[in-house]
Amino acid sequence: MSIPVIIDCDPGHDDAIALLLAVASPELEVLGVTTVAGNTTLDKTTRNALTVLELAGRPDIPVAAGAAAPLARELVIAEYIHGESGLDGPVLPEPSGSPVHQSAPSFMAELIRSSQKPVTLIPTGPLTNIAQLLRDHPDVIERVRAITFMGGAAEIGNITPSAEFNIYVDPEAADEVVNCGLPVTMIGLEVTHQALFGDREADLLRGRNQSSQFVAELLDFFVARHPRTYATPGAPVHDVVAVAHVIDPTLVTTERCGVKIDTGDGLGRGRTVVDRWHVTDWDENLDVGFGLDRDAFARLLFERLETLP
Ligand code: BDR
Ligand code: CA
Repeated sequence: MSIPVIIDCDPGHDDAIALLLAVASPELEVLGVTTVAGNTTLDKTTRNALTVLELAGRPDIPVAAGAAAPLARELVIAEYIHGESGLDGPVLPEPSGSPVHQSAPSFMAELIRSSQKPVTLIPTGPLTNIAQLLRDHPDVIERVRAITFMGGAAEIGNITPSAEFNIYVDPEAADEVVNCGLPVTMIGLEVTHQALFGDREADLLRGRNQSSQFVAELLDFFVARHPRTYATPGAPVHDVVAVAHVIDPTLVTTERCGVKIDTGDGLGRGRTVVDRWHVTDWDENLDVGFGLDRDAFARLLFERLETLP
């Protein structure tokens, strides 16, 4: 019995690997992929999503482009991590397919309405499209099983000391999503910084099938960018953890917490304020990831990549 999912992403090296894991996993049925501006501009994230699906042998999965900018702010992109194309490193063929002629929120709504089973949303970029879906199509909310997003941090951020990139880019959207009343899981930096991949992982994947080779080349670039910025031993493959958690919920340990988003413009912009020690009377609105079985996670990804072209 597979779980129908929609992946809303901004590829992005780790988004691309997350897409590969999703399409390679029989536990999931990827109904569609939607794109948002984040790591790079919308035209590039959309092209990258199409290219990745074609490379994985799944050009049949529809792609819909969504928001080109956050709900209320100027777009901030992450070329310093993902390069000019958003997926620098491997040679990227132009996709032969195109996105559907519908914007991401209405396409998601249509997929959710026509799904036999409730749909799980896996956002791995800024939450703009998801907030727009909740605003414009409230009738589908009861048909959403859960939202598992990559974003946020209970402690320190990565784009500022306070904020993780996806939430920093569109804090207003994040605020709407965390307060939407659905079961929402936050896969933040506490978890994803345990999912570090380095040259060793790239070398293990290199020379295997096309998809593993592609991931190796993505990692070559992505890993080289990270120690320079964050002094971590390897690169956190953030978004892959969100998909892995939906495939196998035993990989990540979560705690139920009250979480609020700082939508101000000051030092705390985009901070996910997590009440881990329950010192407030806030509603406990999120399951927040803290622990990761890193080896089981890596095994899952490597095994699944083997099943792709
Ligand atoms: C998040 O920001 C992006 O650069 C990554 O794709 C990931 O979704 C990590 O902060
Ligand atoms: Ca992303």
